[in-house]
Parts: sequence; structure tokens; C-alpha cells
Amino acid sequence: MYTTLKEVTRKAEELNYTVGAFNAHNLEMLPDMIRAAKEQGSSIIIQTSVDTAKYIGHENLVAVCKSMATKEMVDVALHLDHAKNFDDIKEAIDKGYTSVMFDGSSLPFKENIIKTSIVVKYAHKFGVSVEGELGTIGGTEEGIHVDEDKKVYTDPKDAIVFVEATGVDALAVAIGTNHGQYKSKTEVNVPLLKEIDAVVDVPLVIHGGTGVKETDIPELINNGIRKFNVGTELLVAWTKTAKETFGETKETKSLRHNIIPCNQAVKEIVKHKINIFMNKNE
Ligand code: 13P
Repeated sequence: MYTTLKEVTRKAEELNYTVGAFNAHNLEMLPDMIRAAKEQGSSIIIQTSVDTAKYIGHENLVAVCKSMATKEMVDVALHLDHAKNFDDIKEAIDKGYTSVMFDGSSLPFKENIIKTSIVVKYAHKFGVSVEGELGTIGGTEEGIHVDEDKKVYTDPKDAIVFVEATGVDALAVAIGTNHGQYKSKTEVNVPLLKEIDAVVDVPLVIHGGTGVKETDIPELINNGIRKFNVGTELLVAWTKTAKETFGETKETKSLRHNIIPCNQAVKEIVKHKINIFMNKNE
């Protein structure tokens, strides 16, 4: 079923697992990401940045997610990642995304509340879920770099006020993770996550999932993480494989011979992550 973030995270909360939210970087990799979820018997959140949505076309992304959700009988939510302005959010909602993130994390607290509330009001009219963010997550997102010393961790007291005032369906927390960290692993602040989870009752979201140690994931799940973002790891696997296949290819060889292994590499990572996210190894 083509569904929402709210619905897939509700089920995850009931059964104590987390839903993988995987960034699609091109249309080629998308079907295999959804097939991976089907093979693992899991729901999936497909997410794109604003720029990727414009590059592929919102309607094309919606069409593929909808048709595959029906054909493969998988719960698929399509989410707009890190949108910073209302027009981009409105466009995604109007064109059929089922979930959006308004990232007001760099704004003053009150402004973040006001702008997130406007998004929630609009999105909820169409049954679309909204993720908000408090605190700053390090690293690079679509070329915007957040320096290590500018990182602000999520304050649990602010989280209570923010969730209550905005009505968001999920909250991205800054607990030490970084976007785009794939050469090393981060130290997540689990005590802070516990504090936030104790006072806030919406699903919590991890950004920068590539840089999280896989051995830390069960503890994050046990402390309220219901959406787990992974992007860079997929991007790196696709690109590395493409370098190999395209590097060796004859120019007249059918493209699919070079692209199928790239999609396959992404599929294997999505399957592997979902296996951990579903707590299958417990
Ligand atoms: P990574 O690219 O570091 O896995 O982070 C993905 C993410 O959080 C997207 O918002």
C-alpha cells in the first residue's frame, strides 16, 4: 500500500522496530530499493531531497512508488527530506508525496515552531505526515556544510514544547550523528536520546544513519527511533560499482549490463539494514 510516515511508524512503535528511510539518488535504483523491502517483509520510506525530486520529477517518483507498492504488496511512504521552504513542501504534497520534512533547525526556536506549524496545518489537510527537526545534525546535506563546532544537540525541554506546539508526526533529533559520514563511525549520545524519548511521544528520527555503528542500532530502537535515515552508503555503493562497470564497458554494450550491478549493490545494503532495523537478529 502507498502510505504515510505516520502509519508505518505507528506499526513500528507497536512492534518495537524502526523503519528504514532510504534516500533515492536516481530513478534507476528505486525499484530495487522497494524490492529489497518486499524480500525482507518490511515497510519502507523512500526519501528524496528537494533537488533530487526536481531532477527525477515528483510525479515520476510518486508513480513508481505507488505502482510498486500495489504490485509488490509493500507499504511504501514517499518522503521529502530536509525541505527548507514552504513552496517546495507544497509542490511535493500537491504532486502526491505522503510525507514531508520541514527542516527549520537552523532558525531561532520560535521561528522554527511557527514555520513548522504552518507546514503541519497545510500537510494534515491532505493526510500528509510531517517530520520536524530540533538541534543541528553535522555533516553535509545537498552541499550545505554544518561545522562540528556549530552542532547543537536537541534539548529535551525544547522538544516537549516543539512537539506540543507544532503537532509534528515525527521529530528528527540531534544526538551526535552527521550526514555523509561513511569513512568513520560516530558516538551517539544514547543518554540524551533516552531523556528525549521519556518526555516526547512522537516517533523519533535518526539522520546520518550511514555513520551509525550497526551494533548501536538495537539500543536506538529500544529508545524510540522509528525512522532511520540512510543515504550516503547507498550513493557510495552505486557510484563505486558504476565506476567499475562503466570503466570496463564497451560503448556499444547495453546500458543495463552496467546499471543492474549498481542497483543490486544498493539492494543488498537496503536488505542488510532492514534486517537490523527489524530486530531480526535478536
Ligand atoms: P547519511 O547520508 O549520512 O546516511 O544520512 C542520510 C540522512 O539523514 C538524510 O537526511
